[in-house]
Amino acid sequence: MTGEPVHKPLRDVLDGQRQAVPPLWLMRQAGRYLPEYMAIRNTVSGFLDLCFTPKLAAEVTLQPIRRFGFDGAILFSDILVIPQALGRQVRFAAGEGPLLEPLDDPSAMANLRDALDHDVLAPVYETIGLVKAALSPGVTFLGFCGAPWTVATYMIAGRGTPDQAPARLFAYRHPDAFSRLIDVLAEASIQYLVRQLQAGVDAVQIFDTWAGVLPPLEFERWCVAPMQRIVAGVRQAVPDAKIIGFPRGAGSNLGRYVEKIPVNAVGLDWMIDFDVARAIQKRRPVQGNLDPLVLRAGGAALDRGVDAVLENFAEGPFVFNLGHGILPDTPISHVEQMIRRVRG
Ligand code: CP3
Repeated sequence: MTGEPVHKPLRDVLDGQRQAVPPLWLMRQAGRYLPEYMAIRNTVSGFLDLCFTPKLAAEVTLQPIRRFGFDGAILFSDILVIPQALGRQVRFAAGEGPLLEPLDDPSAMANLRDALDHDVLAPVYETIGLVKAALSPGVTFLGFCGAPWTVATYMIAGRGTPDQAPARLFAYRHPDAFSRLIDVLAEASIQYLVRQLQAGVDAVQIFDTWAGVLPPLEFERWCVAPMQRIVAGVRQAVPDAKIIGFPRGAGSNLGRYVEKIPVNAVGLDWMIDFDVARAIQKRRPVQGNLDPLVLRAGGAALDRGVDAVLENFAEGPFVFNLGHGILPDTPISHVEQMIRRVRG
């Protein structure tokens, strides 16, 4: 062993250092488009069994790294393990997505457990140890959680919804009860991310998948304020913690997000205007933002899409990614084509 520091290109971007060839990973890179994932998925009955069985979760975390040589490995888990560890019932029914016991009664909020049950999450921390031991040193290991607003949309409705109307209505009608839920989730997120960092991830990403449905005042209250609290809370325990924020669909609220939340990098979706995106990149490293459907489509459209993203972000610190998760019916050959194009 030499004492030389390990070069991790993705982590270096989070430190503000532009890389000549942008590091690359994909949101939802472990999943149903991979036959080796399906082979393991079919050995367990429920999706959460996969998340909570360290050997299997570690294996599916590593699969896309072995196949594609991505610069980042993201822990295999789900944002809904937090409600589970807060004592809510969570299950994934085949073809239906997540099902939780809905939390639609404001008086129930007072009884919500406010401490995470770390026994429920112990397998996740164990998975991190297994992955860490197997990853090559140049690969950046990412942990994650859902942002309070996004997790709350599932907890209130008890399922995924097209427009997050149940949580939006609840927040307008019962702001105090909703505020209590957001507080509980912010505190839980701090504890969970700190544990992940202590267990060995190099950085964490906070997924705010439904940030885009919030008007500016609600964006401040349910997205910006809890994110400020989470970033401060995590860095109080882990001062140098690297944090990526992904406020999907935030659009004209993005400026506010970057100005007020000291995340190390901002994940951008594919809908954002090129000039706006570059203006964000002048202030903070960015990650994104290829349309997942152009990756699904392949061919000349994919080459054009990749080139446009590369050109747009060539001047500053940048991590190549999709603008949201990879779609389950994406051909593997398209992922290979994209990687060749990015790496030249
Ligand atoms: O990125 C990765 O590869 C790591 C694993 C990961 C999963 N979910 C695995 C998963 C991550 C980072 C997530 C985050 C997540 N989960 C988000 C935020 C990002 C996003 O995609 O919007 C959200 C909203 C969830 C909640 C969730 N989990 C939903 C709505 C669903 C059902 C829809 C679907 O895609 O099936 C899940 C299930 C889920 N999470 C699967 C995987 C691989 C598919 C379940 C299966 O394999 O049976």
